[in-house]
Amino acid sequence: MFRTHTCNGISEKNVDEKITLSGWVHRRRDHGGLIFIDLRDRYGITQIVFDPNDFPKAHVIAEKIRPEYVLKVTGKVRPRPSGMTNKNLETGKVEVLISEVEILTESKTPPFEIDQDREVNEEVRLEYRYLDLRRERMKNNIILRHKVIKHIRDFMDNENFLEIETPILIKGTPEGSREYIVPSRLYPGHFYVLPQSPQQLKQLLMVAGMDKYFQIARCFRDEDQRGDRQPEFTQLDIEMSFINEEDIIDLNSKLLLSILEKFSSERKILDKNLPKLTWQEAMDNYGVDKPDLRFDMQIVDLTEEMQASGFSVFSNAIKDGGIVRALKINGGAKFSRKEIDELTEIAKIYEAKGLAYIIYDENGEIRSPILKFLSDKEQKAIQEKTKASKGDIVFFGADKFNIVCASLGHVRLACGDKLNLRDENTFAICWVTDFPMFEFSKEEHKYTAAHHPFTSPKLDQTQMLDTDEFYKVSSRAYDLVLNGNEIGGGSIRIHDPEVQSKVFKALGISKEDAEHRFGHLLKAFQYGAPPHGGIAWGIDRLIMILCKEANIREVIAFPKDQKAKDLMIGAPSTLPDTQIKEANVKVIEK
Ligand code: AMO
Ligand code: AMP
Repeated sequence: MFRTHTCNGISEKNVDEKITLSGWVHRRRDHGGLIFIDLRDRYGITQIVFDPNDFPKAHVIAEKIRPEYVLKVTGKVRPRPSGMTNKNLETGKVEVLISEVEILTESKTPPFEIDQDREVNEEVRLEYRYLDLRRERMKNNIILRHKVIKHIRDFMDNENFLEIETPILIKGTPEGSREYIVPSRLYPGHFYVLPQSPQQLKQLLMVAGMDKYFQIARCFRDEDQRGDRQPEFTQLDIEMSFINEEDIIDLNSKLLLSILEKFSSERKILDKNLPKLTWQEAMDNYGVDKPDLRFDMQIVDLTEEMQASGFSVFSNAIKDGGIVRALKINGGAKFSRKEIDELTEIAKIYEAKGLAYIIYDENGEIRSPILKFLSDKEQKAIQEKTKASKGDIVFFGADKFNIVCASLGHVRLACGDKLNLRDENTFAICWVTDFPMFEFSKEEHKYTAAHHPFTSPKLDQTQMLDTDEFYKVSSRAYDLVLNGNEIGGGSIRIHDPEVQSKVFKALGISKEDAEHRFGHLLKAFQYGAPPHGGIAWGIDRLIMILCKEANIREVIAFPKDQKAKDLMIGAPSTLPDTQIKEANVKVIEK
């Protein structure tokens, strides 16, 4: 028998019992005579003692033992001497005096310390991920991930959902991002693609009458990596029939609250009613479509007031069809020149040409390079609308709507960070609704679907799809936002073939093209499609926030690095010529 207990499983109750443990050497301390080892397994740590006076043979072996060796030990549990107990360990009141020890396997010296939570180069961590996962923090992240997913499965089962698996080898599902492709051995020149999400399959399950579907689904997207993106990631994917927006929002709000209350009960949830903002409100007030509501700091509009401004940056922007907006930062008067420059650089990332500002300093003096261009009336309007007072700074954006929103929105977030307003012990959740149906793609020079082409337009706006102003139509899409992160998104779908063809037309997708790309779905919809809709959550992002991590790689057992590589296994890799030939592909050397 390898063990009678786990390394977290003994306490004062076991004193005088003879027990056997198996685990890794976490730490070893040689007191020139007595040797102490912290023995570790998944469950915890137990201190074991080798005493040369009691068990000389075991002690001789213990002298050879090094960190991360795997041991099997047997001995008697005894209380630790008074003053030697360890409050940080659940087993901290006892230790085991070892009579027999077996080294099950030796270990090379690991490339980093397992028993410390020190910063280690991420490349090394990813190359030796199995060692990284031995570390306390990573282990706890993986355990929490398991528990949250188990909770989700139980919740969904309780709500009468069926978990149904959908294929990984499918046909192209043009949903927006680039797909990973898999060559077919049997059909030269033909390819499978890996699903970006089970979107079309879950809609087909609704046609199949499955009514309430969910899946913990793996999705694949060949996009540029960021902290909150991975080439393969996990969704909680949901689809329901005979429902409206409210049904999806209610169910998912209940699920999210249950997760936060169960797994992060010590953190504060700001508004348990989960406020709803339209996309327009989110953009107008916070500049982004996933507002961080942990702090207020709203953007205000000054377009009307600045129409005739002597500051040509403002008046010209308005003449060109743009807007002028302002963001007041309480206490921002203390920002240094360098800090203002840094914020200006952030605004410029989002294509702003600059970041004009007015400082209302502590002495009541108003300072700004643009003050001389502004009339008294304009200055008064700024102060009244932004409610600026002593100690504040007001930043301005003057440009096209999208540029002003994005630049001020990100300056707002940066100021939130600077002023410690983005408290990780607070949850602010909201729903963003009424997204635009279409967005203009600069790369493709045309309107594309903002969510995906199966998203329903607002029912009272379907007529507008036939007009030149089709791009103004709003959709029945919604996003779930937690602390400024989009953790989920979905929509009510189109189930009426007539509306679907109008949307394809607006997107510039011809009948033949639609038939080629979505023929299977359009065919299915001719056999009685129920009204339906759904949502998908980014599980990795949710767990990242629960674990207070800044990166989803920290909550995925075996993630890819920032360049989409698996540094441990060494993927992607070349393949033997025979295998490549069999797959009917030709490699082009670059
Ligand atoms: P969407 O593309 O918005 O919708 O994705 C849903 C959620 O998945 C997460 N997510 C990601 N997480 C990690 N890495 C990525 N590369 C990544 N991309 C997206 C986000 C996002 O909110 N089929 C639709 C859903 C629906 O309409 O029901 C879909 O996939 O948290
Ligand atoms: P300039 O007239 O270019 O020297 O700009 C004066 C101030 O206005 C500087 O603080 C610039 O950063 C700022 N600024 C310039 N263009 C814009 C713009 N489009 N929106 C907001 N501020 C701007």
